[in-house]
Amino acid sequence: MQRFETYLEANLPSVETFHPHYNEALSAMLLAGGKRFRPMLLLSVVEAYEPLLFESALAPALALEFLHTYSLIHDDLPAMDDAPLRRGFETLHVTYDDATAILAGDALNTEAFYHIAKAALRDDVKIKLVELLARDGGTYGMVLGQSIDLHFENIPLSLEQVKVLHRNKTAKLIATSLLMGAVIVGLEKSKQEALYAFGIDLGLLFQIQDDIIDETHTEEEAGKTTGNDGDKNSFVNLIGLEKTVEEAEALAKHLEEEFVQFDDALQKGLGDIVGKYLYRHR
Ligand code: IPE
Ligand code: IPE
Ligand code: MG
Ligand code: MG
Ligand code: MG
Repeated sequence: MQRFETYLEANLPSVETFHPHYNEALSAMLLAGGKRFRPMLLLSVVEAYEPLLFESALAPALALEFLHTYSLIHDDLPAMDDAPLRRGFETLHVTYDDATAILAGDALNTEAFYHIAKAALRDDVKIKLVELLARDGGTYGMVLGQSIDLHFENIPLSLEQVKVLHRNKTAKLIATSLLMGAVIVGLEKSKQEALYAFGIDLGLLFQIQDDIIDETHTEEEAGKTTGNDGDKNSFVNLIGLEKTVEEAEALAKHLEEEFVQFDDALQKGLGDIVGKYLYRHR
């Protein structure tokens, strides 16, 4: 974790320019903190199988955090969730303006792929990492999920459709974080697939918990705007808080069962991070 933070601080976007706040705007939300869940997943898989590759894996781990942070910056814009608080700080569009927030997001999105391209990894591995991050963090994943989330505000979806929404906007990027780690260490195909499937369930749970947080946490506790899902197809809006917590419990239990099927190395490597988030809704 500390190694990742040090790496992030050393690799913040920094450009020589006469623009008064370009660099500050691009770095602000990265420096604001966050759980670093996605980079930790990738790095935990690498550490489990090939600790010697940890150093080279920091660049794709950073790419995940850049892309995720871009998605949050855009998610908070007035045209999307219109949220003034993120990671304990004022959002970029409040501090600066909408244009700055849009462009900071754009920059972090492209910067993610720049870091993968420059990583000290084999070219075929890097191309695969670009493919996976583009697929699940873009058109076929996060962007689709966000589009469904926003288009269907105030239009109730079925529970199955909300799961599709959550899998796209959140779970696929989380699953791909594990998969990118697996690709870096050259894990066999069947293990890659099992890890990805686990990641989809883990990501669905993560977003269900996030829906619970919106309902139950203060802004101070969450470090972000809460009580903000009134118009949304959130689990809580659809089936109520109590049933949502039950759903989270059931999914967490199912994930535990899936987890113990993993080999010893993976259970050891992922145990801490998975254990920390499985029951965070309690
Ligand atoms: C928030 O993500 C948005 C979701 C996809 C649920 P995180 O809960 O990982 O936010 P940070 O990175 O810790 O700020
Ligand atoms: C956003 O989901 C998921 C993203 C892809 C950014 P939310 O809108 O629920 O995330 P928060 O609650 O604002 O962090
Ligand atoms: Mg949103
Ligand atoms: Mg939001
Ligand atoms: Mg939320």
